[in-house]
Amino acid sequence: MESTPRKKIIFSGIQPSGHLTLGNYIGALKNWLQLQYEYRCCFAVVDLHSLTVRQDPKELRRRCLEFLVQYMACGIDPKENLLFFQSHVHTHAELAWILNCFTYMGELGRMTQYKDKSAKHKENINAGLFTYPVLMAADILLYQTDLVPVGGDQKQHLELARDIATRFNHQFGNTFKVPEPYIPKVGARIMSLQEPTKKMSKSDENPNGYIAILDNPDTIMKKIKRAVTDSGNEIKYKEGKDGINNLLTIYSSLTEQPIQQIEEKFEGKGYGEFKVAVAEVIIESLKPVQARYQDLMNNKDYIEQVYTSSAEKALSISNRTLSKVYKKVGFISKSV
Ligand code: AMP
Ligand code: TRP
Repeated sequence: MESTPRKKIIFSGIQPSGHLTLGNYIGALKNWLQLQYEYRCCFAVVDLHSLTVRQDPKELRRRCLEFLVQYMACGIDPKENLLFFQSHVHTHAELAWILNCFTYMGELGRMTQYKDKSAKHKENINAGLFTYPVLMAADILLYQTDLVPVGGDQKQHLELARDIATRFNHQFGNTFKVPEPYIPKVGARIMSLQEPTKKMSKSDENPNGYIAILDNPDTIMKKIKRAVTDSGNEIKYKEGKDGINNLLTIYSSLTEQPIQQIEEKFEGKGYGEFKVAVAEVIIESLKPVQARYQDLMNNKDYIEQVYTSSAEKALSISNRTLSKVYKKVGFISKSV
């Protein structure tokens, strides 16, 4: 009998900080949707990672749940994928420790996100912030992941995960699958609406810089109308027109129309008219997500069942890798 080829494995996660944004939706979640039936996917709310910056416990707990529910509201199917909280699967923190011992200070010091975040949180440059990419490597390597769908900003972390896996395999024999990044061609970097040279960030202090997935239609319209653009009036993707380029990218990735086609459609029209059209596309795209979100939030028992059973399965899968690692590094096996 011919055996069916093993479905490839995907792992991805988002930190529960701030609000999930249109940047997360276009750069990450939308791609997860396209991949979820073709691959075996683990999508985690990476709560351990979020402790690298100070969190209010009550708010963190609320946000963790809201994030998981937003994954589902965006269309991630819990019957086909594992949706769980990273802290519910203890193998992540355990493997991170081991991998910490196979990662060099110099490698971590070169990480752009560490440099940015330590400059931003000077009062709290904790060791977790420094070793953050090692925990991310553990997340990925535990599941023998083939593919990691992320936005462009995570490419460097992924390369480090590959280096760590290769180093460990080299020393102990084949243990980890070396994962590949999966970065979208359009929309890998949605920019801030207020400072279009910076990425749209879910922890931006100015809410006008981002569109939250749960923003209501009026708010979306207002934020897009206020989006910073240049002093010109032509809807054309051109170097230096960062604001318009960003709006064109958003429009293009949500409607799946090529940018050139959108330029033609808006030829001779002004920025004002274009902005209204962009806002409408966003509102329409998010409407079904927001409706499903409200429905799901009214069904907390179901949500709990999803994350509990996913975590159980994730633990069983990841334990296989962890046991292998413990054996390879020389720990005595547990008898039970
Ligand atoms: P973060 O918001 O930094 O926790 O990122 C969660 C996921 O969303 C990662 O895969 C990021 O690469 C992606 N992402 C975050 N912000 C953006 C953005 N502005 N444009 C595209 N992708 C993004
Ligand atoms: N570091 C990622 C981010 O900031 C989040 C993350 C943690 C992640 N672990 C992961 C992404 C594993 C992909 C795979 O966006």
